[in-house]
Amino acid sequence: MHLSTIVASLALASSVLAVPTNSKTKEPSLYKAYRDRGRDFIGTALTIRDEPAEPEIIDQDFNSVTPENAMKWESTEPSRNNFTFAGGDAVVTFAKKYDQQIHCHTLVWHSQLPNWVSSGGFDNQTLISIMENHIKNVAGRWKAACTRWDVVNEALNEDGTYRKSVFLDTIGEAYIPIAFRLAAKYAKGSKLYYNDYNLEYNGAKTEGAKKIVKLIKSYGVRIDGVGYQAHLASESTPTAPGAVPDQATLEAALKATANEGVDVVYTEIDVRMNTPATPEKLKVQADAWERIARSCIAVKRCVGMTVWGISDKYSWIPGVFATEGAALLWDENYQKKPAYNGFLKGIKEGKKN
Ligand SMILES: *[C@@H]1O[C@H](CO)[C@@H](O)[C@H](O)[C@H]1NC(C)=O
Ligand SMILES: *[C@@H]1O[C@H](CO)[C@@H](O)[C@H](O)[C@H]1NC(C)=O
Repeated sequence: MHLSTIVASLALASSVLAVPTNSKTKEPSLYKAYRDRGRDFIGTALTIRDEPAEPEIIDQDFNSVTPENAMKWESTEPSRNNFTFAGGDAVVTFAKKYDQQIHCHTLVWHSQLPNWVSSGGFDNQTLISIMENHIKNVAGRWKAACTRWDVVNEALNEDGTYRKSVFLDTIGEAYIPIAFRLAAKYAKGSKLYYNDYNLEYNGAKTEGAKKIVKLIKSYGVRIDGVGYQAHLASESTPTAPGAVPDQATLEAALKATANEGVDVVYTEIDVRMNTPATPEKLKVQADAWERIARSCIAVKRCVGMTVWGISDKYSWIPGVFATEGAALLWDENYQKKPAYNGFLKGIKEGKKN
């Protein structure tokens, strides 16, 4: 063999060997790390927009998407029995292309509900039939696509009592099991969830969610899971004074409903701070994201975590809470923040109970 051939083949051999042993060439993936821990999905809220970085990130880090607005009542049935499916269909097409589960969101909710429902003055039986027609058409439309459905969203007050809404006022608490019964009928293949916020640290509200699970089951109706939205803060802020849950609080909250025999997931995680962000605050935030991931790994029935968007550029927080923000895992330029590494670390190293 000619010397130059030997040198070339040695170089080839060493470069082939170098690839798998050099871990720096391997990009991390949130959902692959989570699957390695034996759990199911890491998701993000999805609004389809002209940002090429987003599909790339979704492909790499996520295996589930939650449509941010496209499947809500005001988007799907803006006037009575007049259904508009284009936005939701686009999400389904996107999800297929990038091999994503879909956490469909949401069937019965007091907000983003058109006036014709909330101010229609319908009697009990009519409102139930309106709810049935909505669920039949919307859940029926995407019955093959929805891995999970948030069937009822935010039915509780902070003290754990039922929130006032046209559904509660007209039908009574029975609207909750009735909605789940209808979802079970028209979305047979989807897992059915109750979804709410502040369940992560407000014990009275967590008890309310437990009461809802029991109520649905007392009607002989299926509920598969409870969604903990997890709109949290990493430091005390004007809209979350002192609300920085420690890991024990998060775990106890997840267990409170998991012990009723349902799955639990974090459905809308973001961890806001007082802006502007500083390196110190970003570090505190990374620790908070790590705790959240650890709390999920610690609870056997915690099967998924969804973050409420990719980049701080589009987060809803600054639009609603003027002095707060920087709540997500990627900054406004789609660069990973320390929070990304904190979340990944919690997923990889969290202890199972
Ligand atoms: C149905 O909704 C669409 C758009 O929301 C509207 O343009 C149209 O007029 C509606 N049709 C009926 C029959 O109400
Ligand atoms: C409305 O009808 C449903 C189904 O028949 C029933 O469970 C519920 O109690 C009724 N609500 C009121 C306020 O009468």
